[in-house]
Order: sequence, then C-alpha cells, then structure tokens
Amino acid sequence: MTGSTTGVTTDHTATDGDSVAFPQDRSCPYHPPTAYQPLRDERPLARVRLYDGRTVWMVTGLAEARALLADPRLSTDRENEAFPLPTARFAGVARRRTALLGVDDPVHATQRRMLIPSFTLKRTASLRPRIQRTVDTLLDRMIAAGGPADLVGAFALPVPSMVICDLLGVPYEDHEFFEGQSRKLLRGPDSSDIEEARDALEDYFLRLIDRKQREPGDGLLGELVTQRLNEGTLDRQELVDFAVILLVAGHETTANMISLGTFTLLQHPEQLAELRSDAELMPAAVEELLRFLSIADGMLRVALDDIEIGGQTIRADDGVVFSTSVINRDSASYEEPDRIDWHRASRHHVAFGFGVHQCLGQNLARAEMEIALRTLFTRLPGLRLAVPAAEIPFKPGDTIQGMVELPVAW
Ligand code: HEM
Repeated sequence: MTGSTTGVTTDHTATDGDSVAFPQDRSCPYHPPTAYQPLRDERPLARVRLYDGRTVWMVTGLAEARALLADPRLSTDRENEAFPLPTARFAGVARRRTALLGVDDPVHATQRRMLIPSFTLKRTASLRPRIQRTVDTLLDRMIAAGGPADLVGAFALPVPSMVICDLLGVPYEDHEFFEGQSRKLLRGPDSSDIEEARDALEDYFLRLIDRKQREPGDGLLGELVTQRLNEGTLDRQELVDFAVILLVAGHETTANMISLGTFTLLQHPEQLAELRSDAELMPAAVEELLRFLSIADGMLRVALDDIEIGGQTIRADDGVVFSTSVINRDSASYEEPDRIDWHRASRHHVAFGFGVHQCLGQNLARAEMEIALRTLFTRLPGLRLAVPAAEIPFKPGDTIQGMVELPVAW
C-alpha cells in the first residue's frame, strides 16, 4: 500500500551516505518504514544518521532494548549537549526542560512519585464508567449527524481529550485551543511554531493554576495545587511542566492508537471478524495492536558512560535511538512478527517504553482503547472506509504515528 503523508515530511532521504537516515516516514501507516528493512537484520544494534549528520546507535533487538531502557547509564536529559536531536525543527524546543521525560533520577523519581497515585490500575478502573459514557455520547453524536464522518475529529481525538481534561481538571471547552497547540508542538512546520506552541501552553497553564489556587475544583491539577504547590514541595514551573506533558501525552497518543487501530482493523477483516465474535479477546487485541502499530516510534537517549551490549560498545556521549516499530517486530522474540495474532504473548513489547520512564498513562490508555474500539465496532457493524485506503493521509515519521484524518461510513 502506498498511503500518503501530509503536512511535514522528514527533511532527508533514505539513502544519503552509507548509513540509513533516522527518522523515516512509514510507507504504510502500520508497518515500520521500509528504509529500516536492512536494519531489522542487523540485530541487536545498528548505526543510523541524524539530520545534522551525526551517527548514532539504533537499537533493533527487543531483549537489548529492554536492558538498555532499564540502564541508568542512558539519560533522557535533553539539556546534555550530546543528547541526540531527531530533526532541525525540534532542535530549539528539544533542549527545553520538561518534566519526567526530560529528567533523570533522582529528580525524575521524585516527580513521578507525585503522579503515580492518579494512574494506578485501581484508579484507572474507577474511570471506566466515565470513559464508557464519553465514548457513548460521542458515538451518539456522530451517528445522529450521519455518515460519512472523519473518525479522528468526531471520535478518536475527543475521547482521550475529554478523559484527560476530566482527570486533570482542565476545562474541555478550551479543547480547540490546546488540541491546536499540541498539534503544533508535535508537528509544527518549523522550530519557531513549536516554541510558540510550548509558550502558549505554558501561559495557559500558568493562568489555570492561578485560578486553581483560588478555587482548586476537581482533578489532579487542583490536588497538586493544594497538596504540593501551597505546601512548597512543588514549584509553579514544575507544575506547569507536569500539566503540559500530561495533557499532550494524554490525548495525542491514545487518539492515534484509536484512529490507526481502527484503520488497521478495517484492513484486516479476518482478525476483525475474530475480534467481533469474541469480546473477551479485546484486552489481548489492544496489547497486540500496541505491539504491531508502535506509534511512539523513536525514543531518544544519550549514554553517560561506556556500555557493552550485544557485542558492541556504546561510548559515553553516544546518542541512542529506539525505533519501537523495529524492536516490536523482533523475529527472535515474536514468531511471524509482521502478522497480527490476537493469541500471541505480546506483553513484552516496548510500545510504552520500559524502565523508569515507562509510560505513566499506560493503564488509562489501555482502558480507553478497549472501551473505544469495542463500542465502535459493536455499535457500527457496517463500519468501513469512506475513501480508498491509499488516499487517507497519515502522519510523518518524526512524530507520533497515526491517521491525520479517517473518513468512514457505516
Ligand atoms: C496508547 C497510548 C500511549 C502510548 C503508545 C504511549 C507511549 C509512551 C512511551 C513510549 C513513553 C516512554 C518514552 C521514553 O521512554 O522515551 C511514554 C512516557 C510517558 N507517557 Fe505515554 N503513551 C500513551 C499514552 C499516555 C497517556 C494516556 C498518558 C497520560 C497521561 C501518558 C503519559 C506519559 C508520561 C507522563 C510519560 C513520561 C513518563 C516518565 O518519564 O516517567 N501516555 N509514553
């Protein structure tokens, strides 16, 4: 299939010099970029070239990826001069401090401990009825408006967006503003757009936090204001950084899993039929879709010390990139990795990362995906693409993977 990307494309080609460039656009929205094909055999580590000409390690083996992601000698500190930058347009903002993902332990661990209680399995399970209500309301609206519809705008984006607003205590009526800014932050055409989006989100949250100091209301941000900010155990900027990462990571990622998951299921009628015939399969199916789609396809690290792994030595200051789409299709770990199989043990995938930075929102994301996909395919048994698959735009390789829009009928 030759799907088309829209918007920004990565600014280099697959074949400059002798090493493969990273990142690459996918040619099919649910398969690893074809340019990575030779690297898939070069396990467990390959060399790739970044836009600025720098050569870095690309981890391709699942066992090695898990070992390295759990290794404190690899850092996520973007302020480190040697931290690898994926594209020119992210160069400015990538150096800016963020909470959690941009910091190493022990500061990272302190930050994460403040947030963990809101993302436990138990806490997330208690949100399921609200997630179900949100999903039902959005589908009611989409069905009442009549097809065809853009599933991204009508369903895949608003589901996680409403849920994360609820959880954080962010007014959903501001969603056009923050969804637009998140889009610009992740896919803005140049670095000044990205910086502007980051500034706009920070200003928005500074004002929201001021309001919450007067009236905390429901939600995690209000709790952090009363329990942490007012007590002096969290500063205002850190709280703003929490809000930005939770809001952006909380809706853009899951939205892409819902849109790309739906697209992929519609392209795999046999697997879809099996899923429809047995609702119990859904949790395993979500896990397999996470492995198969690997939407966060480029984790970045810098080595703080020499590390021996897989017969190679990663030197201090070397950049290391993790293509989850390649790692999660490791044939040493998965039989026929390019096939969707609801019955395989996909649990050990690294679609949510691994180690101390492993996705904080994974329980929430799983609940949202299960409820959204199950309800969508149950209520719309005739769901189908409204235009040929090859005409549907999907996202470029240097951002979270997913559909830009998804025209459907039923
Ligand atoms: C299917 C949806 C999602 C996917 C595929 C995903 C993927 C990831 C990945 C791969 C990482 C690790 C990045 C790294 O180590 O470099 C990560 C971290 C993170 N994710 Fe998610 N994520 C998803 C949903 C969510 C949701 C719903 C939230 C909610 C609030 C969230 C919040 C975070 C946060 C805060 C981190 C940083 C954790 C830390 O550094 O300790 N994610 N995510």
